[in-house]
Amino acid sequence: MDDATWWLRCRSCAVLRVPGSVDYVCAGCGGELVVEYAAPSATPRAGITGLWRWGDRLPLRSAAHIITLGEGGTPQVRLGTRIHQELGVASAEVKCEHLNPTGSFKDRIASVAVSLAAERGLSGLAGTSSGNGGAAAAAYTARSGMPLTLFSLSDVAPQKLLQIRALGGRVLLVQGLGHDGSATMRAATAVARHSAEKGVMPFLTGGRYSPEAMEGAVTIAYEIAEDRPATTVVYCPVGGGGLLSAIGRGFRAQAPHVRLVGVQPRGCATLSRAMRGDFSGLPGPVTTGVSGLQVGVLFDGPGSVEAITQSGGHLTEVDDDAIAAAQRLLAREEGILVEPAGATALAGALADAARGLLRSDDHVVLVATGAGWKDTASLQHLLSDAGGLVPSVPVITIDEIEEVLGERL
Ligand SMILES: Cc1ncc(COP(=O)(O)O)c(C=O)c1O
Repeated sequence: MDDATWWLRCRSCAVLRVPGSVDYVCAGCGGELVVEYAAPSATPRAGITGLWRWGDRLPLRSAAHIITLGEGGTPQVRLGTRIHQELGVASAEVKCEHLNPTGSFKDRIASVAVSLAAERGLSGLAGTSSGNGGAAAAAYTARSGMPLTLFSLSDVAPQKLLQIRALGGRVLLVQGLGHDGSATMRAATAVARHSAEKGVMPFLTGGRYSPEAMEGAVTIAYEIAEDRPATTVVYCPVGGGGLLSAIGRGFRAQAPHVRLVGVQPRGCATLSRAMRGDFSGLPGPVTTGVSGLQVGVLFDGPGSVEAITQSGGHLTEVDDDAIAAAQRLLAREEGILVEPAGATALAGALADAARGLLRSDDHVVLVATGAGWKDTASLQHLLSDAGGLVPSVPVITIDEIEEVLGERL
């Protein structure tokens, strides 16, 4: 590895491996692999925008193989007075990951996965997804001309399913996937094993299964650290834990003083178990309705726990109702329309503020992970009144326009 800029290391036995294979299981002990770099921190490349500015710390050999749709480099938007005051902090901003090309942070992972597949001459991608990862993989494989086979949840959000199909991805819905921890683990393990055997890039958005591709998500931390060096605490939603684990690695390299808070729905409390050393997943079915956060087992258990404990952060659990309220608040007060998973970070920060866990000198960043149009059922819910009914939109005649315009606008 003398002159290598990056390599893989086994989390368990620390053996180093030269990159190249997509069999991401340590040959010696069966442990998980993580990407390590010769450079201790990330330096952006000059003259490039977006994700691939961080190309010196992404696992691709040649820029000639990059498959990009303009992902990364997402804006950070300052929150207005009301939320800011409720949080009681020095500043509060949203990292707008929902503004990535297919509407979620998963584009960062898909860009790296598909670029790597192209560089290595692999025949395609296979993965599991609750929808957003699948849509991202479908877009980038469409661009590269590679086929994609995807296994999704039997109750995947219809807009996410349509998005995947419109982009040409082959998708099959699997009973139990996501909602049942052991079925989720079985599916992921099967995809990883068959991908390794067939020379297909596994697209399972967790470091355990796709350690190289997940480096794409690490760049969120590089960008926050670069754009807002004063940041003291970052809130991140948790499903399978891949995002939290990746952001944890990024901040350890770039800004280790930043506290990381994982926010998870109570109806999928896998991380609290992992914090107690139990990585086996939920014994019963997932009960949260938040699409994207219905993962009955943590793909990145140890990485998620490390992200929290090594940064001096914590886990905050919230109810689906609090997530829906945060989604509404972002829409109505800030003009930021995200899906429920994308509002989960704010729900966690508001819960922490109420418990006195935020300081007046904190500079808070909330990672908004997915766009509102991805989950129209949640938008219907946002619009519904106390009785659960969505008010209808009036249909008027052309003559009535004058009347409406005559009213106070
Ligand atoms: C919008 C959104 N937010 C958050 C997550 C959670 O990410 P992870 O499973 O890496 O914890 C997902 C995963 O699908 C997602 O789609």
